Amino acid sequence: AVEEHMAYFDGLVSADKRIEPRDAMPEGYRKTLIRQIAQHAHSEIIGMQPEGNWISRAPSLRRKAILMAKVQDEAGHGLYLYSAAETLGMDREEMLDLLHAGKQKYSSIFNYPTLTWADAGAIGWLVDGAAIMNQVPLCRCSYGPYARAMIRVCKEESFHQRQGFEILWVLARGTEEQKAMAQDAANRWWWPALMMFGPPDSGEQAKGGHTAQNMAWGIKRFTNDDLRQKFVDMTVPQAQKLGLTLPDPDLTYNEETGHWDFGPIDWDEFWRVLGGDGPCNAERISHRKAAHDEGAWVREAAVAYADKQAARAGA
Ligand code: ACO
Repeated sequence: AVEEHMAYFDGLVSADKRIEPRDAMPEGYRKTLIRQIAQHAHSEIIGMQPEGNWISRAPSLRRKAILMAKVQDEAGHGLYLYSAAETLGMDREEMLDLLHAGKQKYSSIFNYPTLTWADAGAIGWLVDGAAIMNQVPLCRCSYGPYARAMIRVCKEESFHQRQGFEILWVLARGTEEQKAMAQDAANRWWWPALMMFGPPDSGEQAKGGHTAQNMAWGIKRFTNDDLRQKFVDMTVPQAQKLGLTLPDPDLTYNEETGHWDFGPIDWDEFWRVLGGDGPCNAERISHRKAAHDEGAWVREAAVAYADKQAARAGA
């Protein structure tokens, strides 16, 4: 019967159909999806912190309202993603415990500080821009609940990306100080945004190596390097429109390939950040744990309320 179930799974994958929670699946498929979806959910939740830092200091009421809505969207994305991961058999409680214990990851990008208002713009433009490039193909992921969650997430992310671009557009047309602030933010976020796509496909930095298996399973549709190149190709013309430069002297258009060539990425920095030694790792996790502890009464109250409703419905 096990072989029959696995043949059914292989059949769904090769026909490019969706796997649903009720379907039998290889243990490795379940594990890698829990790893990736939990990591993705944690990224959304931790990702609220760098921008949340600017809500009280956004330069106008309009900017404040927009930023609050944006940060709230990220919380929503985290919730759909935890729900998608739960369909694979791991509780949200357990995922949060693993995050707090440093046993599940979140994206490297959220370990960098937001030093000025222009960082809210650079995060929208570059970080959400990179996120969309990576997440649009996930709408076609072989695991149904993850793929479906991605559709709304991507729609909202594209608003976020335009929102960030518009912040920088305004700053880049402002005073000399505002222009310098926009340029400084672009300089600081460019390389970390390229690292978001994960380690290169080949060479000595190609550690981890989930790509080949996850492409065979229809989880990933493109390799890390392919998505990174697409992101560079999309973003360079946008930087030109903004009137900002990107901090890479090797960035040149390659007539032969039709792509923008770029300089070497500092993978040592990437692995350091993954290992816990980025500029804000400790702060992000301690803030998250404090929020979790301070929110305990809300979770207890919600459970008590749900129990009361259930008892009433049963009476
Ligand atoms: N930050 C932290 N860890 C990373 C990152 C990153 N940017 N990129 C890769 N890694 C880790 C992988 O988790 C893996 O480690 P592990 O085996 O200990 O889990 C290791 O580096 C090797 O990477 P890959 O073999 O390429 O791993 P994978 O196939 O999972 O690909 C990727 C990585 C592309 C990030 C994939 O997991 C993915 O598409 N995730 C969903 C998108 C996501 O999480 N986005 C969050 C940021 S966007 C946002 O929230 C706005």
